[in-house]
Amino acid sequence: MGTLIKVCSVSELPPGSMKGIEHDGKRILVVNVEGTVHAWDGTCTHEEYDLSMGFLTGDSVTCALHLSRFNLLTGEAVNPPAEKPLARYEVKIAEGDILVEVA
Ligand code: FES
Repeated sequence: MGTLIKVCSVSELPPGSMKGIEHDGKRILVVNVEGTVHAWDGTCTHEEYDLSMGFLTGDSVTCALHLSRFNLLTGEAVNPPAEKPLARYEVKIAEGDILVEVA
């Protein structure tokens, strides 16, 4: 089991919003898709750009650098040039806070 880190309160991340955090030099993208919070590696698998600088539309995020698009329910790269999926982080909700489990 990893370490749980607090991201923010649930009320600070309403549906249709995302937030980028850093932990131990790793970016993590935390996103609320229609009321369910997901956490993914926050670095684009194409050329390592910060995905929190991108555009959130529905259940996908588009990288601002070369417009790769990732599905935020599966992590899959659905638009090139990125080909590799994003790694998932476990999310827990406790006492109104969003927590992400890191290694
Ligand atoms: S760095 Fe994200 S698409 Fe190129």
